[in-house]
Amino acid sequence: MIRIDRIRKLFPTREGEVEALRDVSLHVAAGEFVAIVGASGCGKSTLLRMIAGLIPPSSGQVLLDGSPVTAPRAETAMVFQAATLLPWADVLRNVTFPLRLMKQAGAGTEARARALLATAGLTGFERRLPRELSGGMQQRVAICRALLQEPRVLLMDEPFGALDALTREEMSLELLRIWQGREMAVVFVTHSIPEAVLLADRVVVMSPRPGRVAEVIEIDLPRPRSFEQEALPAFQAAAQRIRALIYGGRLPRAA
Ligand SMILES: Nc1ncnc2c1ncn2[C@@H]1O[C@H](COP(=O)(O)OP(=O)(O)OP(=O)(O)O)[C@@H](O)[C@H]1O
Ligand SMILES: [Mg+2]
Repeated sequence: MIRIDRIRKLFPTREGEVEALRDVSLHVAAGEFVAIVGASGCGKSTLLRMIAGLIPPSSGQVLLDGSPVTAPRAETAMVFQAATLLPWADVLRNVTFPLRLMKQAGAGTEARARALLATAGLTGFERRLPRELSGGMQQRVAICRALLQEPRVLLMDEPFGALDALTREEMSLELLRIWQGREMAVVFVTHSIPEAVLLADRVVVMSPRPGRVAEVIEIDLPRPRSFEQEALPAFQAAAQRIRALIYGGRLPRAA
């Protein structure tokens, strides 16, 4: 469904060009859950923005169902590293905004939005403005907004980074429940290795400067997943392998 084909990304800066990504290729099947991990600055957000059609690759291409992604698409939704809510619109209007913008809001839209907000623990906050919420609550609103679009591709850039540990665990299980109920490919960037292993079918480990795919690790754990699985040898082995790749100094450095 998503095919990333030998992309390279150069950013012009005052000190010359920065090579953010080099020769990155990846395939994500329909309905697959892929996590991306790697050190800060290795190009995870850049990669996600290119899949979303927000920035173009310098060379190579991103294909969605075989056609090049050159602009944002209705079937793709993104949750950014920091919540990006409309400051003047209340929670409910923020969540329904993309559907209203695309003229896809219907009779059931508000009820579905309220139900999603309820699962995110935001019942009673529907009429609040973003500035009246905590950072974690704002991020939960942004997640609800993405899910309401029922995207075929959900791109999430460290969506739980601003949440406390407990909410983070609840939200990741909730995300899995929602994902299991529909055909939705998820590309999920995280700094948390256990989170990546818990959620994903495959974990893509990226190496820094320039960002490349170091290794793709299959997570062979039954679904539905639960935190009890963290004790399983398969979980530990996958997490250990990822840790070794990221921190073990065994990442291939580009010349
Ligand atoms: N608009 C830009 N202009 C110049 N350089 C950029 C731009 N965006 C990203 N970069 C550079 O590209 C590289 C990758 O950045 P990116 O934000 O994709 O990393 P990341 O893996 O998401 O990091 P983090 O984990 O800290 O969010 C970095 O070296 C960054 O400085
Ligand atoms: Mg980032």
